[in-house]
Amino acid sequence: MTQASTPAVHTGRSDKPLLRALRGEAVWPPPVWLMRQAGRYLPEFRAMREQADFLTRCMTPEIAVELTLQPIRRYGMDGAILFSDILILPWAMGQDLRFEEGRGPILTPIRTEEDLKVLDEDRMMDAVEPVREALRRLRRELPEQTALLGFAGSPFTVACYMVEGGGSRDFAHIRAMMQQKPSVFNKLMDILTRNTAKMLCGQIEAGAEAIMLFDSWGGILPPEAFRQYVIEPTRQIVEYIRARHPDVPLVGFPRLGGVMVAEYAEKTGINALALDTVAEPAKVAEMVPDTLTLQGNLDPMILLNGGEALVKEARRIRDSLKGRPHVFNLGHGVIKTTPPEHVAALVEAIRDV
Ligand code: CP3
Repeated sequence: MTQASTPAVHTGRSDKPLLRALRGEAVWPPPVWLMRQAGRYLPEFRAMREQADFLTRCMTPEIAVELTLQPIRRYGMDGAILFSDILILPWAMGQDLRFEEGRGPILTPIRTEEDLKVLDEDRMMDAVEPVREALRRLRRELPEQTALLGFAGSPFTVACYMVEGGGSRDFAHIRAMMQQKPSVFNKLMDILTRNTAKMLCGQIEAGAEAIMLFDSWGGILPPEAFRQYVIEPTRQIVEYIRARHPDVPLVGFPRLGGVMVAEYAEKTGINALALDTVAEPAKVAEMVPDTLTLQGNLDPMILLNGGEALVKEARRIRDSLKGRPHVFNLGHGVIKTTPPEHVAALVEAIRDV
């Protein structure tokens, strides 16, 4: 794309602390934001919830903007993550999606060559236009120091939900498909890889300043499959985005990736590695280059419980990464019963040096 078509806000590198840290600078104290910082633990979020169902909230720019801003107003986070969902992509291509109270997402499963026909790649960009409109508005409304994050699920994780038809304990259908119908599985992965990259470029062009790729379920795969279906598609997405938007930092979250996360970081070319709860930050730091930013990784349960243990554990993580690029975050999303004042105490503990 040409320079003339990018909005004025994109000219020049931003010095927002989160973007500096994601580009490899050891910012101190580390910038902080939380996965699922917009959510049911906030009373103002629950109030909006009564007005519209989840999909409508994601697809109505004024609601998505308001929900994104709520945690920023309360806590002044360094990053604002767009209020949306990783399952918007399959929905935008035509797969049925609804969210049911207590059950999570429900999709009409895709398991055969015939099922794949519901996916219409040509409609995707138009269908996600309200998401891009929300990003444009957010760039105008966010405080000067707050960076705007766009995101997507990575192809394998999104495929898990598409094939299972929702969440799953054992992912039996997708694992059977990988073995018994590799051509259907590979076609699905190609569609997802191509469209994830395209959709994320659309988010950047609308104002997202950094991108996070959520791979919540890649960690269920054995090493060779992890290389093929987690690392390789992520590498392709990084390559596609970087060719068009070289300055936009990319964060990868290979949850449950264990020791494979070092290889993931190296081969995908991401700027920042988000760590899950079980990763020991100082140990991971020894396995990756000094210029790679680490993000994470407080246990959301410790945040839920609060008190002295919260302050102590948050500072232990922060201090164990002092001197290298770090973005403070959780190892997974905020739990919905978390008292909002615990989040305030966490942000204060991180910023107090
Ligand atoms: O604040 C943020 O982090 C931004 C918004 C965001 C949501 N989902 C909002 C959401 C992000 C980044 C996601 C990512 C996401 N969505 C992932 C990857 C991260 C992870 O948790 O592992 C996954 C696997 C999904 C799919 C998904 N969406 C599930 C399994 C569920 C149901 C579980 C639940 O928490 O209710 C959702 C629903 C969802 N996505 C909610 C929110 C705020 C709750 C919906 C509601 O308000 O009722």
